Amino acid sequence: RRPDPCCFVIFGATGDLTQRLLVPALYNLAATNLLPDHFAVIGVGRADLTSDDFRNGLVEALGKFATRPVDRELAKKLFNNLSYVQADPSLDGSFDTLCARLLDVEDRYRTQGNRIFYLATPPAGFAPIVKALGAAKLVGEEDGGPWRRVIVEKPFGTDLGSARALNGDLLSVLDEDQIYRMDHYLGKETVQNITMLRFANGVFEPLWNRNHIDHVQITVAETVNVERRGAFFDATGTLRDMVPNHLFQLLSLVAMEPPSRFEAGAVRAEKAEVLDAISHYTDEQALANSVRASYGAGTVNGETVVGYREAPDVSPTSTTETYVALKLHIDNWRWAGVPFYLRTGKALSARKSEVAIKFKAAPFSMFRETPVERLAQNFMVLGIQPDEGIRLHFNAKVPGPAIRIGGVDMRFKYADFFEAAPSTGYETLIYDCMIGDAMLFQRADAVEAGWCAVEPFQRVWRETKGAGLATYAAGTNGPSEADALLGRDGRSWRHL
Ligand code: BG6
Repeated sequence: RRPDPCCFVIFGATGDLTQRLLVPALYNLAATNLLPDHFAVIGVGRADLTSDDFRNGLVEALGKFATRPVDRELAKKLFNNLSYVQADPSLDGSFDTLCARLLDVEDRYRTQGNRIFYLATPPAGFAPIVKALGAAKLVGEEDGGPWRRVIVEKPFGTDLGSARALNGDLLSVLDEDQIYRMDHYLGKETVQNITMLRFANGVFEPLWNRNHIDHVQITVAETVNVERRGAFFDATGTLRDMVPNHLFQLLSLVAMEPPSRFEAGAVRAEKAEVLDAISHYTDEQALANSVRASYGAGTVNGETVVGYREAPDVSPTSTTETYVALKLHIDNWRWAGVPFYLRTGKALSARKSEVAIKFKAAPFSMFRETPVERLAQNFMVLGIQPDEGIRLHFNAKVPGPAIRIGGVDMRFKYADFFEAAPSTGYETLIYDCMIGDAMLFQRADAVEAGWCAVEPFQRVWRETKGAGLATYAAGTNGPSEADALLGRDGRSWRHL
């Protein structure tokens, strides 16, 4: 389906995100014929640039970051419809120029008044820009008239209070169905596939509950360190950067109830519901069920990495965490008593994102040589990245006259079945916004439920300051305290 004609306005147009991801994603949409027939892009920023400067910068960026070979004609066509406006929401009247440009572009490229405003700025810009758009009457919708949508990048707030305030600010100008809160994890095919795996098959869902599942492990391990993001990262930390958004996307897709329909309202309601069911810990429970750590010097993929506190723009006395492990409970009938263990960190030994479902052991073993405690429990591993696929580990007879049992794997690899051109992960999300499908975007209630679930950890870590901060050497699997978190329950993490 071709989207309606529209004008795509990018705030933060000279920034990293625009260059690395948005422009390559728009190019990929053009290459697959999924852009509207009538389409134009306006870049907005504080810098004093001409449209030509802006265009040249993006041509260069596309050369660097495109995920497929660039066809010159196609790129030319895309960039021809692109211009730049200097505007700053804190300056009175600054949006008048934008308004005039929009009307001109809409007329010239016949985009019919449909608009997407993409907020690719630092988060401090979100509310002021939306308010300024409201004041300039650029986002109003009327029945039967053109549509106006706003895509808001992450981070959406820094805690429950700020997320509520930001929702309040956005909703004072826009309706909820005009707001598309971005979480790029939802752009990943392997993440979207969790819904298909569970609800397009008869074989898995009957087992998907506390009667058959022992526990769930969600891992998002990264080898990258904070690199040049020290200033942002030191003020943010891994919990805020990764958990209420990316890890909770995985958790909610794995744990939600079957939605009544495959449409945005029903799916997002179930996701919000399950986040809302995460146990709210007391301070003591939050401390006992969490581990936070920061990395010391080490070697990652053969390269020396300085310790986190020595990294550029990081305070030498920083108590910010670069690694988090949590044990969560979901208080509902399906999941009562099934722990969800989450871990994520930077500068680890391997890059690996996966959801591992561990099934309960066979109730007894009739194989005398292998008592039940030696029968490995079955694991189903949903590989998110870089191993895209699904694996089921189970027990089998080791060939030979003696009765021996060993672990084997059943594997599905995406690449064996599907051919897909490499993408940025943003194509589907941008396209969905253009066709008005908000299923892969965050609704206000889910964002707030996510912050609410991490609140106990934020609170108790704030109170205990650096006291509970563990360490791990860069290039290892994380702190031993994280192993102990599962060890106490007689369990262990899957190897990275
Ligand atoms: C971003 C975080 O949202 O996600 C980064 O701010 C993190 O710190 C990144 O590295 C991970 O995304 P991906 O797609 O590389 O797993």
